[in-house]
Parts: sequence; structure tokens; C-alpha cells
Amino acid sequence: MEDEFYITPWEVRGEVDYNRLIKMFGVKVIDRSMIRLVKKVFGEVPLHIRRGVFYSHRDLDRVLKEYLDGKPFYLYTGRGPSGPMHLGHILPMIFTKYLQEKLDTLLLLQLTPDEKYMYHENMKKEEIFEYTIDNIKDILAIGFKPDKTILVDDFRHIDYLYQLAVSIARKVTFSTARATFGFTSETNIGLIFYMAIQAAPCFLGYIIDDAYANCLIPAAIDQDPYWRVTRDIAGKLGFPKPSQIHGKLLPGLEASGKMSTSDPETALYLSDKEEAVERKIKNAFTGGQPTAELQRKLGGNPDICTVFSYYAYIFEDKDEKLKERYEDCKTGRLLCGDCKAELISRINSFLIKHRENKKNIDNETIEEYMLDNRVDIGDLINNYDLLR
Ligand code: TYM
Repeated sequence: MEDEFYITPWEVRGEVDYNRLIKMFGVKVIDRSMIRLVKKVFGEVPLHIRRGVFYSHRDLDRVLKEYLDGKPFYLYTGRGPSGPMHLGHILPMIFTKYLQEKLDTLLLLQLTPDEKYMYHENMKKEEIFEYTIDNIKDILAIGFKPDKTILVDDFRHIDYLYQLAVSIARKVTFSTARATFGFTSETNIGLIFYMAIQAAPCFLGYIIDDAYANCLIPAAIDQDPYWRVTRDIAGKLGFPKPSQIHGKLLPGLEASGKMSTSDPETALYLSDKEEAVERKIKNAFTGGQPTAELQRKLGGNPDICTVFSYYAYIFEDKDEKLKERYEDCKTGRLLCGDCKAELISRINSFLIKHRENKKNIDNETIEEYMLDNRVDIGDLINNYDLLR
């Protein structure tokens, strides 16, 4: 691990240097030629790609080229239900929804209560089960295609995953897992095996429907260790390497670091009411000057401003308007108070609408998305013969 920041799938500390991660993780930046290919497939450059929010990848070129040759891919993403969801968690979901809508493709969405139970040794199972249902409601409120979206809950669907997980686990040595995830002799053995459970949906799509030629994973870059190990062994099991498109982490409201559940005042939850949003944004770190007078005179620094980044990541979809806001801040025409007030109102409208959508997701709706109601386990087991 490098000095100033620390990143694992379970914990991120400090100011993440995304350029350095490209080297550390051995991923590729989304460059001009990649952007041309993306444009060919999507007919446009998606907002989160043109703003550099989704900024690096592995094999996205292969997946998109094959797609253009008539070989479809499925999407796979997920959520570890260890608490209420915040805006950071929803960001990859919003991007995934875009991809699914554009390409009308299958999405496997994994819920990992087992991972969270094994990582947070002080949490009770009941608590995690409650978050699983609550998080599913938040995720479905985003509006994925009902006929093309399948929820995979590790506890409920272990019989769908276990054969794959065992085949994966057999190929991964402890030394690789330790080097990739930073496991120590204190790590419980569950978390070590769990890696194979998160890897399983990288291949499950092919077993559900052999029309798929590839799997693309949209997620923030903190999940990358899972995919590195999975890619290493994919060929040994006779599957294509899963491909990734990596997002940056939505910053927390303090000066540095990602939005994190460990400090609730610096995270904006999907359940936060108007007053909480107002309080948190008012206290947020900005790139502004200490007084309005100085701001008018010297201008602010949107490049380090959390408030500006919220506009860029989620709350301003018009590039022209974002550019205007950037310039107005730099030149001192825009004061932090006004910029924050507008953001508070946008976040609150977003959250109010989100919670209205969430109210419509009842248990019956959830059932419709569940893997066991969509795929017959008997058929699937027959297809496991594909496995080496
Ligand atoms: P989890 O629950 O930690 O995070 C869910 C998704 O949100 C991303 N993420 C963020 N994105 C932007 N800004 C942030 N501040 C932020 N914090 C988290 C994560 O990268 C993830 O995409 N082990 C996983 C669950 C999982 C999964 C997957 C995730 C299982 N299979 C496949 C992605 C893809 C987890 O605990 O995610």
C-alpha cells in the first residue's frame, strides 16, 4: 500500500490518487480511442465517462468490439448491505442503469450479507438481513429493467453460486489472496473464501444464458481486487476474463476521503431528510474563501471543492451549466452560500423523488427480481456440466 491513502474493498482512507491507482492496479485509463469506441456503441459519450467519473477499465475495448460484432455481454454489479445506502453507493447504480437501458442487457445484481457479516464481526445477522431488504428497495427504486434484472442474494441463492465458487476457490492460492486483499493471520477464514462468492456472478451469466459472450462490471475502483484474482483464474475454468469499468469514489463532505458510512455527518444517506441535507451541505468543505468579500476578490477553487464535485458527479447533467458554475466560482461571481443553497435544493428533490419510488417497492415486487423466481435451479445445475 502507498503512503497517503489506503484502499481495499472494505476500507478507504485518505485522498485517493486515481492516477496512481492505474499503475498500482494495472488498469487502463479510458483514453481518446476508447472514448471513440464507446461513442460508437452508445451513440454518445455517457455523462460519467465524459466527466472522468468512470475513468478506467480492463478489456472494455474487447467487450465493446465483440458487442459490435453481435456478441452481447451482461452486466454485473452489487452491494454489501452493512448499513443504509448513501449517495456514493448509488452512483455506480445510476451508471449501470444507463448502460442497461442503452443496451437492453441482463444485469446480475449481487447482495452480499455474508461478506458484511464476516467483515463486521460486531454486527448481528438480523441487522444485516434488515439492511439487505432496505438496500434492495433503494436499488430497485433507481429503476432497473424488471425483465432484465436479477437479484442474487448470497444467503438465499447459495445453491446457485456454490458450485462456481468452489471451482473458483480451488484455483486461488492463499498467497495470491493475501497479497491481493492484504489478509493477515487475524483475518477470519470466511472472508478469505468469500472472494470466490463475489467472483461467481462473473461467470453465472453464461450459465443462465449461453448467448452472452462477456461480462462487464461497473463498480467503483475499490472493488478491483476481486476482479484481479477472478481474471487470473477465468481461463482455467474455461470462461472469458470479466471486464471492468471503474468509477471514482464520490467524496465525503470533509476535506478529503470518500463518502463513508463510518462518519455519518460527512455522508449523505438516501434516507436523509431535508434538515439533515441542509446541515451537512452547509458544513461541507468547499474550495471557497473564508469570507464573501475575499471570494468576490480572489475567486474559489472548484477543483478541490466537495460541493462542486457533487454537481459534477450527479446533480448537474448539463455540461454547459457545469462549466458556467466552474467559471463563476473561479472568478468570484458565485458565492459558496448560493452554490450550496442550490445543491441542497437539488439533493432534496432527488431524495424526495427517490423515497417516493422506494415506497412502491414492496416485498412482492422484490420477489419478482429474485434469482430463484427467475431461473430454475434444476436447469442451472445441468448447465454446470460446462464447468471443469
Ligand atoms: P459496497 O456496498 O461497499 O458498495 C456498493 C457499490 O458502491 C461503490 N461505492 C462507491 N461508489 C462511489 N462513491 C463511493 N463513496 C462509494 N463507496 C462504495 C462500490 O464500489 C460498489 O460498486 N463487495 C461489494 C458488493 C458486491 C459488488 C459486486 C460491488 C458484490 N458483487 C459487484 C460491485 C460489483 C460491496 O461491499 O460494495
